[in-house]
Amino acid sequence: MDVVSAALRLASGDLVAFPTETVYGLGADAANAAAVAKIFEAKGRPADHPVIVHVRDEAGLREWGRDVPRSAFVLAKRFWPGPLTMIVKRASRVSSVVTGGQDSVGLRCPSHPVAQQLLREFARIGSGAIAAPSANRFGHVSPTTAAHVRDEFGASLDIVDGGACDVGLESTIVDLSRGVPVLLRPGAITRAQLADALGVEIGARDDASPRASGTLAAHYAPETALELVNTQHFEAAINSGNTAGHAIALLSFREPSAGSKVTLWITASGDPVSYAHDLYANLRKLDDAGALRILVEAPPASPEWEAVNDRLARAAAGTANLEDET
Ligand code: TXA
Ligand code: MG
Repeated sequence: MDVVSAALRLASGDLVAFPTETVYGLGADAANAAAVAKIFEAKGRPADHPVIVHVRDEAGLREWGRDVPRSAFVLAKRFWPGPLTMIVKRASRVSSVVTGGQDSVGLRCPSHPVAQQLLREFARIGSGAIAAPSANRFGHVSPTTAAHVRDEFGASLDIVDGGACDVGLESTIVDLSRGVPVLLRPGAITRAQLADALGVEIGARDDASPRASGTLAAHYAPETALELVNTQHFEAAINSGNTAGHAIALLSFREPSAGSKVTLWITASGDPVSYAHDLYANLRKLDDAGALRILVEAPPASPEWEAVNDRLARAAAGTANLEDET
């Protein structure tokens, strides 16, 4: 579907999937509570999990937030449009359907040209703000292509196809609503970049941090049991899978070893940016391979891998309690 038709759909209270530089979003008019409610229904998402509001530019901070701290404007100048979501106190116009009943709202200005066009067109004929979580069913792997969205929701959903997403992982989320900035979800904008822009250390999540579905331990999970294996144990894990006759699918930094009987072997990039770009497409391929388990060779535990390691840990946790079928 084209951008002009998509804006019309939003204005009439319907859902539209659209590309962002991170992952595809499932969008609704942020000013229309009934439209936003359709997102929760389509995703099977619990009502107390807030959705992000996508805005056109920095002015969105004032339109949708209140008592917005200076730090938010500093970060907007540096990183918007781009893969950064900021949590600020919500303006009274923000429906509690959007915020999952919390007094804060997540705001993000995406850089994808199609998302920008859609926001501009929707500002012309409607509220100009799009509430959108990732366009996947609750708990599933986020979509990074229009085909992934189609796989999640079927033919009836309108999708604006903008090709494969650049970043491939969901936006960085920083909570600015409670004084010390707190990193709720790591992403392409790193903890170090945020600290550098603000001149303060970025805090870690604690029990008082707002609930966020992307921050649940088990999330972004394929259906096949996924095991994250340290590099030094990886070969042994493959061998023991082979010995037991398990069908395994692999995501590894190495080339396929001769003689190993694996259902699918994907060799991943050693660069964290390209690894992230391909990760969700790779997880979908591994999941579709018909294997009994997925083995993933753990990336290094260094800062540039923080977002990737976060998603891999959640994917592993998401499948950890599945029955071992052997
Ligand atoms: O990259 C992204 O952020 C993508 C694209 C579509 O923009 N969106 C995305 O949305 O990942 P979603 O809903 O799948 O994840 C957004 C996360 C959720 O974990 C949600 O709970 C959290 O942001 N969130 C939204 N508003 C919040 C708030 N007021 N307080 C705390 N967390 C919030
Ligand atoms: Mg999501």
